[in-house]
Formats: sequence, structure tokens, C-alpha cells
Amino acid sequence: MSSSDTQPSSLRSLDASRMAFERAKLSVGGGVSSGMRAATKPHPLFVTKASGAHVWDLDGAEFIDYVMAWGPSIVGHSHPHVVDAVMEVVPRMQMVGMGHTLEYEAAELVLDAVPGAERLLWTNSGTEAVQIALRLARAGTGRSKIVKFVRSYHGWHDSVYASMGANNTAEAAVPSSAGQSLNAIRDLIVTEFNDISAAERILSEARERDIAAVLIDPIMSNAGLIPPAPGYLERLRELCDEYGVVLVFDQVISGFRIARGGATERYGVTPDLSTFGKAIAGGFSQSAVVGNATLIDQVQRGVSHAGTYNGNPVALAAVKATQEVLAEPGVFDRLEEVSAYFESGIQSVFDRLPFRPTLSRVGSFAAFVPQSAGSIVAAPEDIWDRITAGALARGVAFLPTGKIFLSTEHTLADVDRTVAVLGEVVDELVHDG
Ligand SMILES: Cc1ncc(COP(=O)(O)O)c(C=O)c1O
Repeated sequence: MSSSDTQPSSLRSLDASRMAFERAKLSVGGGVSSGMRAATKPHPLFVTKASGAHVWDLDGAEFIDYVMAWGPSIVGHSHPHVVDAVMEVVPRMQMVGMGHTLEYEAAELVLDAVPGAERLLWTNSGTEAVQIALRLARAGTGRSKIVKFVRSYHGWHDSVYASMGANNTAEAAVPSSAGQSLNAIRDLIVTEFNDISAAERILSEARERDIAAVLIDPIMSNAGLIPPAPGYLERLRELCDEYGVVLVFDQVISGFRIARGGATERYGVTPDLSTFGKAIAGGFSQSAVVGNATLIDQVQRGVSHAGTYNGNPVALAAVKATQEVLAEPGVFDRLEEVSAYFESGIQSVFDRLPFRPTLSRVGSFAAFVPQSAGSIVAAPEDIWDRITAGALARGVAFLPTGKIFLSTEHTLADVDRTVAVLGEVVDELVHDG
């Protein structure tokens, strides 16, 4: 650790962002463009520049960034190779709504990266990718019900946005938003993650219960990051094969983060379909459903797949460039090195708190777990808010949800600085009780 890392942090004022948020609320509903951003403490940061692993706010102050656009910026903000690719295409064409070579050039790179993947469809967001994956599964099986897991998030559309609360249980699906169609979630069967016997019971009745697909985020990215128990994904694969159910891995967050080939590479289980978004395009809006050719080729036989912006050249230039960077030798080793260094540094700071928060991490994605399993001291409910507000004031930006994203551009020095900042925040928390 260099001496600058041990200097006490100077505090950012955040004033310009606070005022910008107040102004935004007068024209933009809630003052933010995606609801959860409003939960940032003490208020959302308004940014004028983002480069590598850093962002700059309206006051001109610099921050180390672990928001990373909520996941997409796996190669850092404005990676030169991605910028060059996008800048080459923009003056030539933007939206054409016709065929262009980037459609298959980018697809070939993604299919190369994901073991067992045969075909791909382009869409714009993770939400849309999940929607088309479920449609393919229903068409392929002629069934309608979808098995999902308590607390798992698969996008905000009515048909899967259910049973996400910490207190929800594996009963009938409950809506997670006001205004949702109750009819839309009647096709969901909700069960507990990592519970093999529950899966065996439900899937053995797949025919009678009309089950088309199991929709699973293999690491429960939005529920504190829970890796699959040994043998769990393998058993789901066997059960889906036995009972004619489509296995869908939602890798919108985990894709290109837990390994270049995602969950299939890391856990050795090949789903029928996978959804990818976020990091697939390194900061541009593009997503994909990837997998079995017979299922995906149903788009030539009555399954509707539509979208004006699907496969647009600008986003696909970004996909291609991002995939090229990720395919360079040693990239994932370096990403793992900095992520592991982050985990051990931050954990050593968290160990100073009586309730011993932990970090759950797989690859370049981590999540804050407020209290260790063995702790007898309960963590304050607002502990992550207090940590992130303290960190933001000292120049480190985290998501309000406890998710943490690293990138190829984070350096060991960034991590040292982050550990020093969190050390100050934790000292303050211990002092204030
Ligand atoms: C696992 C998972 N699936 C789907 C989505 C939806 O993706 P998007 O926000 O791009 O619609 C998300 C978003 O965070 C996600 O985490």
C-alpha cells in the first residue's frame, strides 16, 4: 500500500449532484431513469465523465467506481477498443433495420465463448432476453408454467417479477410491484434455490403441472450472490432432461463475469438456453438469448421475435469489440487477481465490525452480506446505506443494492485506496456505535 493510500480522505461535497437530483425530480419521474438508482445514499451521484474504473461528478470530483453501470462495464468505461469500434461505425450507419455483417460477426464471438451454444437471437435488454427465452421454451414444450426461485430477479416484466422480497416463501407467486397483472404471474411455480428435493418433487410432476421451463440465475445474483450447491445444477439438468423441461440459465449479471463462458464454463452444466445482457456489450444496450439451435430456430416456425433496435450496428460493434478484449490471453486471470485482492482487503476491514459482514464473490462480481452466519450480533438494517454514504463522501461509489462490480480496468492501487476508505468508514461506524 502506498503512503497516499494511508492519508485520510478528503471529503467530496456532492452538492452539485444533490441539486441536480432535486432539479431532475421536477421533470423525470422519481429523478432517476431506473427506480433503484434513487436508493443511492445520500442521493444519486450525477456524473459528467466515466473512464476506466473511475467516474467524475458535477463538482469535478473523482470516484473509484464499483457501480460499473450496474454490471455492463466489464472492460471499464469507454475502453479505447470499444470506443474505436463504435466511432468507426457511427458515421457509416446507425440504425438500418436491415442485415449487416456485425450481426453474425458479433454472434460468432459470443457463441465461441459460451460452451455448447449453437445459436443466438439479439435483443436489447436482459428483460427482453428473458421474455424471448420463455417464449421459446413454451413453444418448444407446448406447456406454459415456469419454475422460478424465491428472491430471484429476471427483469421487470409482469410475467416473472414476483416473489422477490426477503420474506417471500415458496408458495404461490406474489407480485413484486404495485400495478402488476396478477394473471401474468399465475404461470409461475416458485421454489427455493439449492433445494434438490423440492426440485425433484416439482419436476417429477412436470407433465401434470404443465411445466415448460426452469428459469434460474445460477448464482442468485440479486439475492446476495449464492453459488449453487455442489451437484445442484447437474441434478436440475438431469431432471429437466428426464421430464422434458427446458433449462434456462439467466446469466444477465453473471455472464462474462464469473468466467468468459459463464456458468457453463464455471460449473460444467450446459442449459438449453441462456440469457446474456449487461457485460455482453461493454456498456451499450444489447442482450441475447443463446443456446440450442432447435429451440432458437423456432423463430422460423411461428415464434415471434421482434424489436426495432435488435442487433443495431452501434451496439453490435460494441459487443464485438468487448468480446475481442475479453478473449485476449490473460484477461480473466488478471480480473480474478484484482477481484480476489479486493475480496481479501475488504473482508479484513469488515472483520472489524461486530456482526462480521462478508463478501460473497464469484469472479468479478461480489455482493455484500450484512452479517456472517455465525454472528450473534445483528447488523443494523441500514448498514450498507451507512457504508456506501461514507464511501461516496470519500470518493468510492457503490451500488445501493449491495452488488459490487469490478472490471479489467480496476488496479491493485484502486483496491488499496478502496480498502483505506472503507477502513475510515468502519472506524467511524465502530466509534459511533
Ligand atoms: C439476473 C437478471 N436477469 C435479468 C435482468 C434484466 O436486465 P435488464 O435490466 O437489462 O432488463 C437483470 C437486471 O439486473 C438481472 O440481474
